[in-house]
Amino acid sequence: MIITIDGPAGSGKSTTARKLAARLGIPYLDTGAMYRVVTLAALEDGVDLRDEAALAALAERDDYQLDPGPTHIRVTLRGRDVTEEIRSMRVNDHTRYIAASPGVRRVLIRKQREIAQRLGSLVTEGRDQGTAAFPDADAKFFLDAAREKRAERRLHDLLADGEEVTLEQVLANVDERDRTDAQRPVAPLAVPANAVRIDTTALSIQAVLDLIVEHLRKAGLVT
Ligand code: DC
Repeated sequence: MIITIDGPAGSGKSTTARKLAARLGIPYLDTGAMYRVVTLAALEDGVDLRDEAALAALAERDDYQLDPGPTHIRVTLRGRDVTEEIRSMRVNDHTRYIAASPGVRRVLIRKQREIAQRLGSLVTEGRDQGTAAFPDADAKFFLDAAREKRAERRLHDLLADGEEVTLEQVLANVDERDRTDAQRPVAPLAVPANAVRIDTTALSIQAVLDLIVEHLRKAGLVT
């Protein structure tokens, strides 16, 4: 069973995906972490972020690993734990170049399908999971929320990670990423066909989870 959860930054999809997977007893995949670790690798190697071939080659390498843990997916790059580093503002500010690379997207989608094949069942979250990666998923959800609410959530996470950042900076970053996510020529963020849309602005994670499980029940996917 493949369940996709797409949506913009701060829509609540990561926490929801993780908790849904735990509730169903199946693995979850944070595909944003894949784009983030490739971004970090590119920054560390001083790769020109517009060099298509170099970026795709970085994505292709198998020197980064994703390992789902109880609170975050644990990410290692060349043997080093970079779970926190990939959430830094430095990485935030550069992911859009990586996300806009057709070569990187091709490689990462292939890797995502391989992971799904290997694991059988998966809750997978990102921007293109129900559109490009798994158009035939068993169930698709699209989460969204008001931009101020999304920035507030993002700020909360960054402050918890020890970043010194203001709401204005996070709002600017959220707006910039929304713009580039929606406008990039390859795999722009879009509501997948047949996806259930949920506005999470005024909802707790628990309420979102309940809505999703209700849909899955109606679809006969869970009992
Ligand atoms: O969800 P996130 O903020 O961790 O995503 C990090 C970046 O990767 C963001 O710029 C969007 C991009 N992304 C993407 O283009 N496609 C995905 N499936 C997941 C993330």
